[in-house]
Amino acid sequence: MSENGADREQWGSRFGFIMAAAGSAVGLGNIWRFPYITGMNGGGAFVLIYLAIVFIIGFSVMLAEMGIGRAAGLNAVGSFKKLGGGAWPLVGWMGVIAGFLILSFYGVVAGWTIAYMIKSFTGLMEAGAAGKAGDLFGAFVSSPAQVVAYQALFMFATIWIVFRGIGEGIEKYCKLMMPALFVILLVLILRAVTLDGAGKGLEFYLKPDFSKVTGGTILAALGQGFFSLSLGMGCMITYGSYLNKKEALPSAAMTVVFLDTMVAFLSGFAIFPAVFAFGMEPAAGPGLTFITLPSVFAKMPMGSVFSFLFFLLLFFAALTSSVSLLEVCVAYFKDELGWSRAKASWVLGLVIFALGVPSALSLGGHFPKIAGKDFLDAVDFLSSNVLLPLGGIFISLFAGWVWLDGARKEVTNQGSHPFPVETAWIWVCRVVAPLAIAWIFVKGLKW
Ligand code: PFF
Repeated sequence: MSENGADREQWGSRFGFIMAAAGSAVGLGNIWRFPYITGMNGGGAFVLIYLAIVFIIGFSVMLAEMGIGRAAGLNAVGSFKKLGGGAWPLVGWMGVIAGFLILSFYGVVAGWTIAYMIKSFTGLMEAGAAGKAGDLFGAFVSSPAQVVAYQALFMFATIWIVFRGIGEGIEKYCKLMMPALFVILLVLILRAVTLDGAGKGLEFYLKPDFSKVTGGTILAALGQGFFSLSLGMGCMITYGSYLNKKEALPSAAMTVVFLDTMVAFLSGFAIFPAVFAFGMEPAAGPGLTFITLPSVFAKMPMGSVFSFLFFLLLFFAALTSSVSLLEVCVAYFKDELGWSRAKASWVLGLVIFALGVPSALSLGGHFPKIAGKDFLDAVDFLSSNVLLPLGGIFISLFAGWVWLDGARKEVTNQGSHPFPVETAWIWVCRVVAPLAIAWIFVKGLKW
């Protein structure tokens, strides 16, 4: 069992840590979910609520996670063992389980992005132009061999990066992929907003409509914010454990929240102007990404290039998130069970791949449904709507009540680094975040 000694791996630089943490946060959730939820929930009015939520609650939980991880210098389970004892390690355990479950289906959808990069040049545009993008998608997800092969390819990439380690793997690749992601996003936005008729899309996306703001809107913003920031499962605990003691935590947490929100917000500018300019109906999730958008690209000059770039963007977003999911599991097996990084990466990566196969098969109807839901949706529901909120509640309570002194010292670097809103942060962790999350949990728990 390796303790958090001098031999623990570390991020090479603050920039590397921030790119890795932002890479974890920026994922499929930002690009295919945020813009649509915004458009449907009152546009600009929703954005204001979302901003308030992520910068108050999201930031507070993120800072708590990073603090716990850095103070303990261990994985999610080990951190709670060391700082809290008692039943607290169960919170870390839930996180590790969530990591297994989320990555199992995340790898499936991420695999589709690889397939669609290739299809951008091999028939997707023709299908889109003929109004057959939906048929093409249906045929693709119903083909077990194809879907599982692309899932395997994506999982291989994830395992490879995690196997290389923190500095030479996760940090190095996130430092390449995250800036590339920003550049691609900007290219797509420029293309979209300069199309004739782009204004209608911007209107759908951002025109404030306060009549659409209800309790459900706030619920949607909380749920989205939480998943999008990778909170509640010890991801930021694990990443924080590789950060040196000199870096200031509050500004790092704030930067990650800012970058994640920025990408989510900007994605809407790449998507809706184009969708509306070509007279299509907006949608969410896989429908938007794999059916509507290819049909939109098919109508543009050089559509295959833009389509390829869009799926490359999704691929980068997904890969920098999937490595963080696997790292939560790997760090646990490494720290607590003494496995080598190589063994943990390959064994756990393969187990997660196998766990994802039912999800991969479920969308083509090749796997029985669970109480009316596709297997993939059932796993998504259990992890995103049950395990993450529960984790978030306990992490905030832990930082705000149980480990309070330690938390204060850790986020101020033992008092040497001022954190002007420390008291407010503590109260968000103590009361505001647990209550707000408990509310999402209870209200949002509809199968
Ligand atoms: N934040 C990622 C997204 O928005 O797609 C998903 C995610 C990654 C959730 C890592 C949780 C996590 F620990």
